[in-house]
Amino acid sequence: MDQIVIRGGNPLNGSITISGAKNSALTLLPCALLTDEPLTLRNLPRLADIDGFGHLLNMLGCSTTIEGSRPEDFGRVMTARATNVTSTMAPYDIVRKMRASILVLGPLLARMGEATVSLPGGCAIGNRPIDLHLKALEALGAELEMASGYVRAHGPGGRLPGGRFHFPVVSVGATENAIMAAVRAKGTCVLSNAAREPEIVDLCNCLVAMGAHIDGIGSETLTIEGVDRLHGATYRVMPDRIEAGSYACAVMATGGSIDLIGARADEMTATIDALVEAGASVEATKNSIKVSHAGRPRGITLSTAPYPGFATDMQAQFMAMLALADGTSMLTETIFENRYMHVPELARMGADITVKGRSAVVRGVDGLVGAPVMATDLRASMSLIIAGLAAQGETQVSRVYHLDRGYERLEEKLAAVGADIERISAG
Ligand code: UD1
Repeated sequence: MDQIVIRGGNPLNGSITISGAKNSALTLLPCALLTDEPLTLRNLPRLADIDGFGHLLNMLGCSTTIEGSRPEDFGRVMTARATNVTSTMAPYDIVRKMRASILVLGPLLARMGEATVSLPGGCAIGNRPIDLHLKALEALGAELEMASGYVRAHGPGGRLPGGRFHFPVVSVGATENAIMAAVRAKGTCVLSNAAREPEIVDLCNCLVAMGAHIDGIGSETLTIEGVDRLHGATYRVMPDRIEAGSYACAVMATGGSIDLIGARADEMTATIDALVEAGASVEATKNSIKVSHAGRPRGITLSTAPYPGFATDMQAQFMAMLALADGTSMLTETIFENRYMHVPELARMGADITVKGRSAVVRGVDGLVGAPVMATDLRASMSLIIAGLAAQGETQVSRVYHLDRGYERLEEKLAAVGADIERISAG
């Protein structure tokens, strides 16, 4: 298996181009199933999960063509065309490797009147049930049957009648599935306490470009008037706010100044507020965010929350940076129950962190030391990269496949701003 080797201690200076958002791309791709016309998505990141989703679309009968797949191109363009959907089933083998596969449930149900999707099971950061996806679809009129680890959903008479659903807990994925099911319902669907993440806004904007009628975009109540058919569209995926935030944490840990090209400050308010509180200087322009820092960060208190709160997907990266703070930080994880898997690895590099239930006390140390480390999930892996960039000596990060799921050309982007980082291929 590949490893990433970092010789830490270099400050980071220069600019990094931010890729298209992985989490947005993963909800825009299934929209192709909602129409027989082509959906062209621009600015797609080059990531293993995007290729995996393309493969799933192919299995369902949707053709995909990719442009810009030369190694030097950032931002690929994929055209997906589901002239005929030939299968309505997402099998276990695909869903267990890529949870986002469950996002075909809503669009298949809307287009074909039925869908069968494997239940994903737990994952490294928590149980992650899909009960809210199913309850929302039921409220919109779907009938559900569970058998042998699969859920089969169908609409009475082929199309969902529509209805109302109040999410008891804010869920990004369940909101996305419900929106994609609702856009082709017979009647009106009202979703309240819906997730408001910028990726949900991206999804709604793409669906509107395809002819959907959605009111309340960006708010917690969405009113969707179903339409008979949607048409094709060309849509540009939003920049990845988590990738941008991750590089901002890296520069806080190492010192230096980085221009995050393409990042949008208005979608990252909670992250920017936390960076500033920790001592960063942040200058936002229309098309970039410049993050600069010298010396040690300051200790801060953070609690994860649904958008516009502080993102759970930024918690691990902040923790790595705050491990080096002058002072003590308190981080509380409210979204996922098991999202501190990076703590023992950071401790092996010299971090002083105590976890008690959902909170972690991070007592800043004045230096970390490189070590061989491994992580269990994507953002945890990035926290180890950040720690490695700031640590004295060599850090070898294994299980690089996690990073390949979410960070496009990580080593290349970091090396270009001064990091001593390389990928060692297992051959
Ligand atoms: C998405 C993101 C992930 C991010 C998360 C929270 C994608 C591909 N992934 O994941 O990177 O960390 O949002 O911002 O976009 N829950 C239930 N029942 C459900 C669904 C969710 O109890 O049916 C719970 C979850 O276990 C969790 C909370 O709700 O505790 C929020 O999860 P959710 O917003 O659904 O996360 P994902 O959509 O899986």
